[in-house]
Amino acid sequence: MGEIELREKIIGYLMKKTETSSYGVGKRESHDSSAFYKRSLYDGIFVKPTPKKEMSEIEIPLPEDWVSKIYCASSTNMEKVPENSVALAFTSPPYNVGKEYDDDMGLREYLKLIRDVGKDVYRVLRPGGRYVINIANLGRKPYIPMHTFYYDIHMDLDFLPMGEIIWQKAKGANGSCAWGSWMSAKSPRLRDIHEYLLVFAKQDFSRPDKGESDIGRKEFMESTLSVWEIPPESAKKVGHPAPFPVALADKVVRLYSYIDDVVLDPFAGSGSTCVAAANNNRYYVGYDISKEYCALAKQRILNEVAPKS
Ligand SMILES: C[S@@+](CC[C@H](N)C(=O)[O-])C[C@H]1O[C@@H](n2cnc3c(N)ncnc32)[C@H](O)[C@@H]1O
Repeated sequence: MGEIELREKIIGYLMKKTETSSYGVGKRESHDSSAFYKRSLYDGIFVKPTPKKEMSEIEIPLPEDWVSKIYCASSTNMEKVPENSVALAFTSPPYNVGKEYDDDMGLREYLKLIRDVGKDVYRVLRPGGRYVINIANLGRKPYIPMHTFYYDIHMDLDFLPMGEIIWQKAKGANGSCAWGSWMSAKSPRLRDIHEYLLVFAKQDFSRPDKGESDIGRKEFMESTLSVWEIPPESAKKVGHPAPFPVALADKVVRLYSYIDDVVLDPFAGSGSTCVAAANNNRYYVGYDISKEYCALAKQRILNEVAPKS
């Protein structure tokens, strides 16, 4: 696709009825942002949405016996999952910070793992499918801006960046105290109370197919804001060193997938994404390399997924 054609296509997605003025716009609905997307900022843009016709020719496998399973294997090769089959992947990768499941990998080796998994997620996602990655930045001396590496890797794999959500885990009083620099400009240290959810899409920003959404008006309005305040999950309660709350997965599942879609977690851990998917009438698929966590995820699914009426 030529550059002009591509720009016109992007403009087409975003073109509505109002226009961006130098003062911004009061209302986002029916907003014509074509002037914005024609600016040089978008010249040579990295995103390459696939033409609709090409996407319509892609065969989407139906969920069959490969769904509703936790696979105990590395997600660098999710051979049980057919290509173009998954609507949403939501995950929190190992952070490589010394949790009991973490190897002590160098940054390059670690990012290679994230890339290899991202590549296979791209393969299994259907056109318009989303990959939502929960990640935190690390350290202070220096600070490792992990999310910037994640953007580089996934955009290089042709994922389309759609936005990011700040997951606010605490109101503010928490976080370890920077006593070494107490009330001094000598070396004040920031105390993180947030993590990121990076949102990517495969081939298109919108789903080319039709489906049934089950998100209410109030939740949609809240979930489309870029800051989500949800308390963290207790590792002790779940029995995994770094679970995210099922409530977080619930919101992602309802915002980014339709009923009966397939939802994948390539680093499933204790199965939080799978529990959320099943309880929201989606199919789940989980991969984890640890036998212990695969067993835990299966048990949580048995305990926490409500029986279908
Ligand atoms: C941050 S935890 C995920 C926690 C999960 N979100 C939950 O709520 O329980 C990361 C998981 O990745 C798993 N893991 C590490 N390397 C892996 C690999 N190559 N393939 C699949 N899973 C892997 C670890 O065993 C760990 O359970």
